[in-house]
Amino acid sequence: MYINLKEVTQKAKELNYTVGAFNTHNLEMLPEMIRAAKEKGAPIIIQTSVSTAKYIGYKVLVEVCKLLAETELVDVTLHLDHAKNFDDIKEAIDNGYSSVMFDGSSLPFKENIMKTATVVEYAHARGVSVEGELGIIGGTEDGHSIDSEKYMYTKPEDAVEFIKQTGVDALAVAIGTNHGQYKSKTNVRLDLLKEINNVVDVPLVIHGGTGVKEEDIPELINNGIRKFNVGTELLVGWTKTAKEKFGETALDNSLRNNIMPCNETVKNIVKHKIEIFMNKNQPIRI
Ligand code: 13P
Repeated sequence: MYINLKEVTQKAKELNYTVGAFNTHNLEMLPEMIRAAKEKGAPIIIQTSVSTAKYIGYKVLVEVCKLLAETELVDVTLHLDHAKNFDDIKEAIDNGYSSVMFDGSSLPFKENIMKTATVVEYAHARGVSVEGELGIIGGTEDGHSIDSEKYMYTKPEDAVEFIKQTGVDALAVAIGTNHGQYKSKTNVRLDLLKEINNVVDVPLVIHGGTGVKEEDIPELINNGIRKFNVGTELLVGWTKTAKEKFGETALDNSLRNNIMPCNETVKNIVKHKIEIFMNKNQPIRI
């Protein structure tokens, strides 16, 4: 089924797993990402940046996700990642995205609340879920985390206030992760996640999933992470395979022969991550 973020994370909470939210950069890899979820018997969140949505087309992405959800019998959520502009969010919602993120993390606290609440009002009236963000998640340089002056950990008391005033369906938290960290791994602040999870009741979201140590994932799930974003690892995998394949084949070789192995690389990564995300060795906590 084609469902929203609130629905997909509700079930994850009941059964104590997390839902993989995988960034697609093109239309080629998308069917294999959904088929990976099907093979693992898991739901999947497909997410796109605003730029990718404009490149492929909002409506095209919606129709492809809906069709594959129906024909492959997989629960699929289509989510707009890190949107900062209301017009982009409106375009996604009006074209049928089932979930959006408003990223007001760089704004002053009060402004983040006010703008997020406006998005929530528009989205909820149309059955669409909203993810907000508090704190500032780190950046990377050449795949390594950089000691950014700008990093701001999420404060538990702010999270309580933010959720109360905005009505968001999920909250992205800054607990030490960095976007795009594919050459090193980060030290997540599990202590901080626990503090946040003790005082809030909405699903929490990990950004920068590529840089998270796989051995840390079960404890993140056990402490409220219900949406787990992975982007760079897929991008790097697809590109590496593409470089190899395109580098070694004749110019008139069918594109299909080069692109299928790239999609297969992505499929294998998604399957591997989902296996961990399903948290099968941990007890269910209702
Ligand atoms: P990575 O690209 O670091 O895996 O992060 C993905 C993400 O958080 C998208 O918002």
